[in-house]
Amino acid sequence: MASDISSLLAEDRPSASAAKAARREAEIAAFAEAVLDGLARRPRSIPSRFLYDAVGSTLFEEITKLKEYYPTRTETKMLETFGAEIAELAGDADILVEFGSGSSRKTSLLIDALDALHTYVPIDVSESFLAEAAKRLAAQHAGLTVKPLVGDFTRTRTLIGTPRGEKLGFFSGSTIGNLTHEEAKAFLENAAQLLGRGSTFLIGVDLKKSLDILIPAYDDADGVTAAFSLNLLARVNRELDGDFDTTKFAHVALYNADKGRIEIYLESLTDQKVNVLGRGFTFSKGERIHTENSHKYAVPEFQDLASAAGWRPVEAWTDNDQLFSLHLLRLD
Ligand SMILES: C[S@@+](CC[C@H](N)C(=O)[O-])C[C@H]1O[C@@H](n2cnc3c(N)ncnc32)[C@H](O)[C@@H]1O
Repeated sequence: MASDISSLLAEDRPSASAAKAARREAEIAAFAEAVLDGLARRPRSIPSRFLYDAVGSTLFEEITKLKEYYPTRTETKMLETFGAEIAELAGDADILVEFGSGSSRKTSLLIDALDALHTYVPIDVSESFLAEAAKRLAAQHAGLTVKPLVGDFTRTRTLIGTPRGEKLGFFSGSTIGNLTHEEAKAFLENAAQLLGRGSTFLIGVDLKKSLDILIPAYDDADGVTAAFSLNLLARVNRELDGDFDTTKFAHVALYNADKGRIEIYLESLTDQKVNVLGRGFTFSKGERIHTENSHKYAVPEFQDLASAAGWRPVEAWTDNDQLFSLHLLRLD
């Protein structure tokens, strides 16, 4: 059987390009609202999902290759090591639904391990990056139907066009750590509705650890993570008629021990005024915009969260260095 990519992103059909234009317009409107509200409030903040436009997704791929960024290589190794065991516990899952799929590079390991799999549904906000990854995955896995869905995984209410079947959810890269505990619980409850009874869910979750390892992972020596953060301001300039001088802001990564999370900020290096969509915002030197959180969980802590959202923890794996965890959950 030949590989098949869903028509959702097929740009050769007029209805598909109209839908794409409508999605683009809606995404820019959501970005405008988030930026104008977020810069007006104190403390200032912009939701982390807006870090991922085409430039941001490409920079994130670069981050995953950095020596300081242990999560990707550790999770990849764990999927290689535990893939067969995961596949056995996932039973006869024939549909794989991935939230925040990005490049889908690690997913191939899971796809190879799942014998009954016929359909892969990657969900991501970063449309062009998602389309490229979907094409690559379909080319790599003969017989696999790939049905990419563009959208916010916290607001996805239906898996349009996905056939009936036994589903395995996949949420890799500790992206769940970008959500607060309350948001993560709400996400897991929504995922339970989407995936349905009898489904399983594999989630990669970063563990608490020494700051010597943690901080450089979010503030590398080559400045790739800083470039990723500052791209948010460049995106405001590109899409919202902004005039941020990105050389006058600095990337700041710190650990909030009370909340068990890395917090990322963009800090103003001087007193300045910035315009966005015709509105002026003044910054004093040292003032920050909060752009991202990355919550860290001990294994039992995450299992408690998953249980509170209705999922039964089935198995949890960690690597030998206790850097990262993989959790398999089931919805009975
Ligand atoms: C930390 S990256 C992880 C990518 C990939 N799963 C990995 O492990 O390498 C987060 C991914 O989730 C996507 N993303 C972030 N927030 C999202 C949201 N609210 N809805 C959908 N996708 C989102 C980003 O575009 C990005 O591809």
